[in-house]
Amino acid sequence: RKKVIIDTDPGIDDAMAIFVALRSPELQLLGLTTTFGNVHTALATRNALHLLEAVGRTDIPVAEGSHVTIKKAAKLRIASFVHGADGLGNQDFPPPAAKPVDQSAAAFMVEQANLYPGQVTVVALGPLTNLALAIELDPSFPKKIGQIIILGGAYSINGNVNPAAEANIFGDPDAADMVFTCGADILAVGLNVTHQVVLTGSAFCNVTISEAPFLHFDTSPFVTDADREKLEQCDSKYARYLCKIMGIYFDYHKDAYFIKGVYLHDPTTVIAAVNPSLLTCTEGVVRVQTVGITKGLTIFDNTKKRYGEITAWSGMPTVKVAVTVDAPAVVDLMMQR
Ligand code: BDR
Ligand code: CA
Repeated sequence: RKKVIIDTDPGIDDAMAIFVALRSPELQLLGLTTTFGNVHTALATRNALHLLEAVGRTDIPVAEGSHVTIKKAAKLRIASFVHGADGLGNQDFPPPAAKPVDQSAAAFMVEQANLYPGQVTVVALGPLTNLALAIELDPSFPKKIGQIIILGGAYSINGNVNPAAEANIFGDPDAADMVFTCGADILAVGLNVTHQVVLTGSAFCNVTISEAPFLHFDTSPFVTDADREKLEQCDSKYARYLCKIMGIYFDYHKDAYFIKGVYLHDPTTVIAAVNPSLLTCTEGVVRVQTVGITKGLTIFDNTKKRYGEITAWSGMPTVKVAVTVDAPAVVDLMMQR
């Protein structure tokens, strides 16, 4: 089984992703580490503990991450308008009984990478601050970690914070640039892929998918299915929990994208660890713009392949970037799990 740490800012799609991981025999979840993004870090920690408690998996440790960016900025972009003020659909859940471990997220990542050299995959579902801190803590971390799979960036399409930036990269662009250039085995899953992976829910939205302004994908596989209704029928504590929290996420997608469904950003990224063959990738250098109106923009350079060693970024470590996804298969796997 693949040993996995999930770095997360739960978050409704983070909750889905964590549940997929817990239900996947291909993965061994070593722990959750928390970051800011959809909520502040303290609330992310509370939510991570709560999610594990809700499904009876308090055996999994939670390590709290940084409350500020790698450059110590405390002014953060928090996406409560997407996930609710509590990050989990405003359900007023009671505080969890469990506590996080007495170790930072970065220290936990470094410790696990030392325990299992080359065998640990970090699946990063929020801003990349904790991974950058792990690299600062132990410069050999990129060589010891098996793989880093990142939900982050928008490759050749617009971002979701603004036309330039995707939310997780925008959250800490300096950390993201450090991670993308650290030399580890990295797979980036961006909006170009996750905007094709839609969990549908027709009865809850009266806008048809053909009205979507961002028709950069073929919507035909999604028009007739209604995954949300299928989940409602499902006799599973995981499905019941998700159905309870998902409403606000559907509302947001209806208002922001005019689609009758929700994008499965974070679950797709966990599924990239479960079954890598569902995505295809290209390889090149990725750098992140850290200032100005394009702050958070991910820039992909594959010119090395085409022109040899003559480009400005040649010699820099390359990463893999997902370019295609078998979207129906990803949705199907998420539904099964
Ligand atoms: C990413 O931002 C967060 O809102 C989601 O949880 C996901 O990780 C999508 O841009
Ligand atoms: Ca997330």
